[in-house]
Amino acid sequence: MSNKMWGGRFAEGPDAALEAINASIDFDRRFYAQDIRGSQAHVAMLADNGIVSKDDARAISEGLGKVLDEIEGGTFTFSRALEDIHLNIESRLAEIIGPAAGRLHTARSRNDQVATDFRLYVRDAVDALDEQLAGLQAALAEKALTHSATVMPGFTHLQSAQPVTFGHHLLAYVEMLGRDRGRFTDARNRMNENPLGAAALAGTGFPIDRFATAKALDFARPMANSLDAVSARDFVLEVLAAAAIASTHLSRLAEEIVIWTTPQFGFVKLSDKFTTGSSIMPQKRNPDAAELVRGKTGRVIGALVGLLTVIKGLPLAYSKDMQEDKEGTFDALDTLSVCLAAMTGMVRDMEPNSKVMRKAAGAGYATATDLADWLVRELKLPFREAHHVTGRIVARASEQGIALEKLRLEDLTAIEPKITDQVFSVLGVEKSVRSRTSYGGTAPPNVRKQARGWLKKLGKG
Ligand code: ARG
Repeated sequence: MSNKMWGGRFAEGPDAALEAINASIDFDRRFYAQDIRGSQAHVAMLADNGIVSKDDARAISEGLGKVLDEIEGGTFTFSRALEDIHLNIESRLAEIIGPAAGRLHTARSRNDQVATDFRLYVRDAVDALDEQLAGLQAALAEKALTHSATVMPGFTHLQSAQPVTFGHHLLAYVEMLGRDRGRFTDARNRMNENPLGAAALAGTGFPIDRFATAKALDFARPMANSLDAVSARDFVLEVLAAAAIASTHLSRLAEEIVIWTTPQFGFVKLSDKFTTGSSIMPQKRNPDAAELVRGKTGRVIGALVGLLTVIKGLPLAYSKDMQEDKEGTFDALDTLSVCLAAMTGMVRDMEPNSKVMRKAAGAGYATATDLADWLVRELKLPFREAHHVTGRIVARASEQGIALEKLRLEDLTAIEPKITDQVFSVLGVEKSVRSRTSYGGTAPPNVRKQARGWLKKLGKG
């Protein structure tokens, strides 16, 4: 039997392999609500402009409402033979209301229909992600406020560099997530145009009102070019790019959590709720959730690269390749969402071990820069010379196997005679972080101010 929705010119039905490769219903069914919303806006506009009768429009709209109830009530039977969500819904509508259902598709094609549905779906998903990103920012900012003066080693090359505060470190992620949200918002603004009414590719001769459907669907305006309207997928690419970057940020934090929770570091303890055990080694506390946040980033990046690859060779306007825009996108957006939930829980519950972090902050001569700065400030040495003198002092301390502040004054004056015991005032880790008062620096009052500022912005202050 040929396809009942488009099979007029076909004598034979599709091969099973065609059906298998062609059907998208297994995944595009998830935007049934957006499809119905778009159809209801379309048919209302058709009636308002005298293209279908008011009675037919009412029957169609009510029938679509019933289809929606059936899908949400779990009584709807999806059919692969009907390819996709659009044809599944329209076919069921015809069963419910009869031939008037056939008027719904006037002045419309599945090409503008799917573009509309997908925009509506991605727009909703972006709004939900924004809320989750804000939730993670709040969890980080709250932890940062609690630990505005908790000292830890700051690293470069993963080697102890200079002491920082744990709060400062967490706020770095709040900033990143803030930019992630900005990227999603930018993408949302650009995507918020209505493709509906572009029809197959060239527009339509029916006197439709694309501004009306734009308004009904909360789009800012209709898309200006019908070819572009059905061909454009940069709105998804942008969202996937934003998702890939956000995932990368989560992955970096996840990696840090994995490092911090090793017995060797012991900086941070995750709650039992976010830790798993080993079936053979009873002592283990594994940070599986953090590892998976790190690992799942690959899928999100993969979705972006996958879709870029699909789109890059496509001539205008619609090609069926574009149906490949969905599965990767759904997977990427779902993945980011579950990663955000896991990360927010981990951050909310995690407890730093301030003693261990403080000890580590003092190791590795992390206050050497403070010593060099002191030589510049107090002895007026040029920084390069101060750097050299400090290097020699560090070497001396290292030979003796002791911390900088444990050196005797004679050891210091043997290297630079003008040094006084005043120098000891800058060598402790707390003193070091307290001195970093430059804008954006790690000094605890800075951190408190920024954490409070964020919490206020996030509506938690
Ligand atoms: N399922 C299709 C998709 O996702 C809908 C558009 C089909 N259009 C067409 N002319 N075959 O892209």
